[in-house]
Amino acid sequence: MHKLIEKAKETHLLSKDELIELLCGDDTDTDLFAAADAVRRQYVGDGIHLRGLIEFSNFCRNDCCYCGLRRSNKIERYRIDEETIFKLAEHAACRMGLKTIVLQSGEDLYFDKEKMCRLIRRIKTLNTALTLSIGEKSLDEYQAYREAGADRFLLRIETTDQKLYGETNPGMSWEKRIECIVNLGRAGLEIGTGILVGLPEQTIESYADDILFFRQVNADMIGIGPFIPHPDTPLKNALGGSLKMALKVMALTRLLLPDINIPATTAMETLAPNGQLQALKAGANVIMPNVTLTQYRKHYELYPGKSTVGYTPDESLNAVKDKIASLGRFVAEDFGFHRRFQA
Ligand code: 5AD
Repeated sequence: MHKLIEKAKETHLLSKDELIELLCGDDTDTDLFAAADAVRRQYVGDGIHLRGLIEFSNFCRNDCCYCGLRRSNKIERYRIDEETIFKLAEHAACRMGLKTIVLQSGEDLYFDKEKMCRLIRRIKTLNTALTLSIGEKSLDEYQAYREAGADRFLLRIETTDQKLYGETNPGMSWEKRIECIVNLGRAGLEIGTGILVGLPEQTIESYADDILFFRQVNADMIGIGPFIPHPDTPLKNALGGSLKMALKVMALTRLLLPDINIPATTAMETLAPNGQLQALKAGANVIMPNVTLTQYRKHYELYPGKSTVGYTPDESLNAVKDKIASLGRFVAEDFGFHRRFQA
């Protein structure tokens, strides 16, 4: 085995140059994925945590150049009402047996602090862990969500390349993004962040920085997805990311942050029918089955071809369970907190 993979497996430390060397090499990928798989097993075991994803609003105030929900896009916008969101969560928690609910939306100001906290308190009566993925908020709001019972928050940095971030997220601030991610930790929430892989002019050097950034902010969860060009966005003609590079960045993330939670992302599955399976064999230990009602899914098109469009919550869950069984792994029965947060 390559000496750097050996080193990462033992020490969970690599320098930027060492990360770059492994990201560049092609002949080492099999060993890299096997090492990430071994470290995953050693630190977080064979159980796969399922997080039921509810995409409750596609309104967004931002205009990110890669995203199908960007403000400038004239798409049919929807908000699911509080009662229906709660019912979906209840179905996911009580009928489907999911231990975590993830509430995701665009940056929709309609769901203000009061509305979110009410929803959080209601969902937390279901004996489930709760993750939010609703964008940039103030520290005060993050603290209020935590006090209302939210456990975790997902906010990808998207890229640590400040120039690229500025170009692809017009009107947004890279410094503010980082401050928000740090504030999640201050508020006592588990920190979930991550990146897109394959934005135009995104470099190997910058992936190495991204991975080091994950360590620096003490991330509890990291989601990595290949960028998939959306035809109605400014980046429609871009090449997009490859599954292979996304898996490599993910595997190295597992080696350097051995005990965190890492999802096999939907974008990976969208690029290849066995994309999530490959991810689960290269360091991932989480899947987020979509539990949004079928009628809304087609309107939550972050990128085209999203593998969950057209299915019902139960179908999505069954597809995920089949994948897990085919691997000889099992669905974890606990809440799947990062070690730092376990009581
Ligand atoms: N391809 C892949 N992932 C995307 N996201 C947004 N647009 C795309 C795209 N075109 C991801 C972003 C965001 C997450 C919710 O979806 O990384 O953080």
